[in-house]
Amino acid sequence: MTQLLWSDDFCIGVESIDHEHRELIILLNEICQALGGKSGIVKDKLMGELFARISAHFALEEKIMRNHRYDRYQEHKLDHDKLLDELREIMDDHEASGYASAEKLVKALVSWFTLHFKSEDARLHRQLG
Ligand SMILES: [Fe+2]
Ligand SMILES: [Fe+2]
Repeated sequence: MTQLLWSDDFCIGVESIDHEHRELIILLNEICQALGGKSGIVKDKLMGELFARISAHFALEEKIMRNHRYDRYQEHKLDHDKLLDELREIMDDHEASGYASAEKLVKALVSWFTLHFKSEDARLHRQLG
């Protein structure tokens, strides 16, 4: 089963962001578990919730970056936008085909988050800290 485990390496030192990262990982892992048993409707609901929470999280991070006039704001935001595009595509496919692609979504998220936490989000912390 694909899973993303919390690691202290992911801590960026901004309380509100670290809290949301943990919550996103919990929800992501809930979806991983849901892949096995739960109905398509439950999976759709979880995927929708995950998308909404990720969008809200990115908006918070982007606000903090703008407030601090962060130098890599554009690059960091572009990385966020790329993931949201990828998620939209997976969800559109899912809607069009009725085929449960939650697994694809989770795989994309796990690899994206692992990389993004360790690169852009960690750099953000070093800069703000
Ligand atoms: Fe980020
Ligand atoms: Fe983040």
